[in-house]
Formats: sequence, structure tokens, C-alpha cells
Amino acid sequence: MNKKRLLTGLQSSGKLHIGNYFGALRPAIELFEKYESFLMVADLHALTSVREPELLRQSTIDVVKDYLAAGVNPDEVTLFRQSDVPAHAELAWVLSCLMPVSYLELAHSYKDKVAKGLEANAGLFTYPVLMAADILLYDTDVVPVGKDQQQHIEYAREAAKKFRVAYEGLFTEPQGIFKEDVAVVPGTDGAKMSKSYKNTIPLFASQDEIKKAVMSIVTDSAGDMPINVYSIHRLFKGEAELAKLYEENKGKYGNLKNALIDDIDAYFAAMREKREQITDADVEAVLKKGAEKANKIAEAKLAEVYKVVGLR
Ligand code: ADP
Ligand code: TRP
Repeated sequence: MNKKRLLTGLQSSGKLHIGNYFGALRPAIELFEKYESFLMVADLHALTSVREPELLRQSTIDVVKDYLAAGVNPDEVTLFRQSDVPAHAELAWVLSCLMPVSYLELAHSYKDKVAKGLEANAGLFTYPVLMAADILLYDTDVVPVGKDQQQHIEYAREAAKKFRVAYEGLFTEPQGIFKEDVAVVPGTDGAKMSKSYKNTIPLFASQDEIKKAVMSIVTDSAGDMPINVYSIHRLFKGEAELAKLYEENKGKYGNLKNALIDDIDAYFAAMREKREQITDADVEAVLKKGAEKANKIAEAKLAEVYKVVGLR
């Protein structure tokens, strides 16, 4: 019984909040279990925008810690760092020789930058080609990503096609898996929880920080039902239990918030503790093992490619 292959990549994007956990991490981890899965930290892609070496290095480590603590099993999922597998950059070069400039000019990621009047580097321009290489090297069947990445999946499919037309069909054409609209986790002000709105409850934070965030949840003074507290509470407890709790504590927002703090704590305590115990060295060991497996597959594929195009 051969499982289909899944690959996804991520760039670190700051500290995670519970909206990220319920909306992205947890669903991703459920998917990983159904496939032969590869999870890649896209540090070469990050280099298109990060100019601080230590930040780039540490972000990679931190994002791996987050995923390990949240439940990614490194014995099941191949977790690796893009720059540890040189074949990604090498295949990207071959594919870029097949990719019309006019087609790359249509990429949103590039167009948006230019529209904002920012200078785009060539790395940003060829970003979709590198991403196509990430995906095609592993004969990936499915790529779970956010809707914003849909166009990049098209580039990967197109690169596979272009290669087939020019040479032969060496690559699997990948399918994107786009998250159905997961329920939006509301923030402390009732709007969508988002780091850009500063209304988050952080996932990996001290108890004090969580307390502070929960205490800051806006409660409407009219009516007895603190709807913002309740909608977050719903993530942690069943409706029946909550109905009782909210009935017993009508109007007592402090009690309800304290109950929520306890429930958040109970839910994430083990995960937080786990994250604290993961050292940078643990992460390096996981990445090293992942890179060995990834390199084996990627090198074999690249060797085929080099032969087919006449580089060997
Ligand atoms: P932010 O809005 O905090 O910048 P991102 O845009 O980096 O978060 O989102 C990362 C992932 O987390 C995405 O898959 C997104 O769908 C999910 N996500 C972010 N905020 C929420 C939320 N409030 N509810 C559900 N999912 C969310
Ligand atoms: N561009 C993706 C993002 O910003 C990250 C990424 C890089 C990726 N390579 C990938 C995602 C390969 C899926 C497959 O989210």
C-alpha cells in the first residue's frame, strides 16, 4: 500500500497564535498522517526578503520547534531545510531555462512588489521556479497550501508540462490542496485573530502573557453573554458544558475569563512544555536526518534530469 506523496513548505512568519494553530497547524498535521509527507523550511525563499543572517538562521530553528511541539512526528514526516538539499537550486536553474520571462511577469508575488514601487530582486522574480523545483523533485502528488499560493502551484504544473514538451515526462504534475474555509478564530477584540491586528492569544507564551491576553478580551457591556469570550471558549469546550458554565456565571465576566484561561492552559500546557524542552541541537538533529532522506530522493531525480537534458 503505497501512500501518495505530500510536500509543503513554509517560511517562518513570527510568533504563532491560537488562530494559526486551529486554522493551519492542526489541519496540516492531520493531513500529514494520510500521506508520505515532506515538510520543508523554505530558507532559500526567505532569503529573497531577509537580510539579517542571525534572524534567518534562528527563524528556521524556531519554526521547526513550533511544528514539533504542535505534534509533527519527525519519524513519520521528513522535515528538512531547503538549503540542505542543493538539488533544489540546481533543478530551479534547469527549469528557469524553460520558463518564459513573460509568464513569470504575471506572478502576483512579483507584481505586487512592483506595484508597491519596491525594487524586486531576481530571486523574487524566479521565486515560483524555485518553488516548482521544490515540488517536482519529489514527484509530489499533493501540495497543501493557502489560497494565496494557488498560482505558485500552477507554475509547478506548468514547469512539469514544459519539461515534458521539451524533453520527456519526468515529473508528476502536482495537485494543490486548498484549505476549505476553516472557522475563523476570533481575536480579543472580536475581529479575526491576526498578528497584524494585535488581538492575538499567543500559542507558545508564558502563563502571564496568556492571562493578559484573555483579560483584554472585549466584553460588551449590554447583555449578559460575553460573546467574544464565548467564541474563543468554544474551541476548548463542548456546547453543553459551556451552557452550564455561562448560565452559572451570568454577568460575571471575570469568572468566565478565568475559566477560559484554565481551559487554554490545560489544552496547550503539554505542548508548551514540550516546546521548552526542544533544544536547538534537537532541531539540528531532526533537520540532519530529514536532509539525508530528502537528498537521496532529490539527487536521484536531479541525476535523471541532468541526463535527459544533456548535462551528463
Ligand atoms: P496572521 O493573520 O496572524 O498574519 P497568517 O496570515 O500568517 O496569520 O496565517 C497563517 C495561517 O494561519 C494561515 O493558514 C491562516 O489561514 C491561518 N490563520 C491565521 N489566523 C487565523 C484565524 N484567526 N483563524 C483561523 N485560521 C487562521
Ligand atoms: N511559497 C510558500 C509560502 O510562502 C512556501 C513554499 C516554498 C512552499 N516552497 C514550497 C509551499 C513548496 C509548498 C511547496 O507559503
